[in-house]
Amino acid sequence: MKKKLIAGNWKMNGNLAANEQLLKAVLAGVGQPACRVAVSVPSAYLAQCQSLLAGSVVELAAQDVSAYESGAYTGEISALMLRDFGVRYAIVGHSERRQYHGESDEAVALKAQRALGCGITPIVCVGETLVEREAGQTVEVVKRQLAAVIRANGHCVSEIVVAYEPVWAIGTGKTATPEQAQDVHAVLRAQLKAASPNADRIALLYGGSMNAANAASLLSQPDIDGGLIGGAALKAVDFLTIIAAA
Ligand code: 13P
Repeated sequence: MKKKLIAGNWKMNGNLAANEQLLKAVLAGVGQPACRVAVSVPSAYLAQCQSLLAGSVVELAAQDVSAYESGAYTGEISALMLRDFGVRYAIVGHSERRQYHGESDEAVALKAQRALGCGITPIVCVGETLVEREAGQTVEVVKRQLAAVIRANGHCVSEIVVAYEPVWAIGTGKTATPEQAQDVHAVLRAQLKAASPNADRIALLYGGSMNAANAASLLSQPDIDGGLIGGAALKAVDFLTIIAAA
């Protein structure tokens, strides 16, 4: 059976002292987990977190990566730069980047390509807004978002991780029910299988108000292979409980 993946997404939170405290508490409690564990930290703290996590089971992730290789792109961080800091995963296409930074499906697909080209696993986020769900467009939206990544990456798509994050569930305390999440995951799994013979090894994560109380029921669904955790990843006890549930 493939190992589940529990990835914390700190978003724009933390500082030197808080990061150290959080990671030390996570490392003290994580033991030898049955799942893969990663933390996606603000880029300013990659070096700090790389050194705190050195030699541990917890892997380092970035929250974004540039669609460009190098050059005159002020403020951007390339996949090669992330590699310098031992980054193993990079989130691409988080709904907050799509929403606040106007990232298109095509830009997200290019970011995934850049990450893969440097040996970094992209965690490709897809998900519908509340308006889209209520209009019955959930499947259409997530399939469109994923299709762009499949188109740009061909057979390499079997190397990605996908996170289904319904926008209405992010930071709202409103979690998708395990059945709602499973339904969308099954659609994404079928789409990936049609694109790659190795699609079974792709981890499909759920994200959106996953917490210590609801993680076990979400993670017990057949096509939910892990979680992308926002708020609950900022508290060591909650993050550790979710890791234990996986
Ligand atoms: P919350 O867990 O805070 O809802 O955030 C989910 C998320 O966006 C993870 O990427």
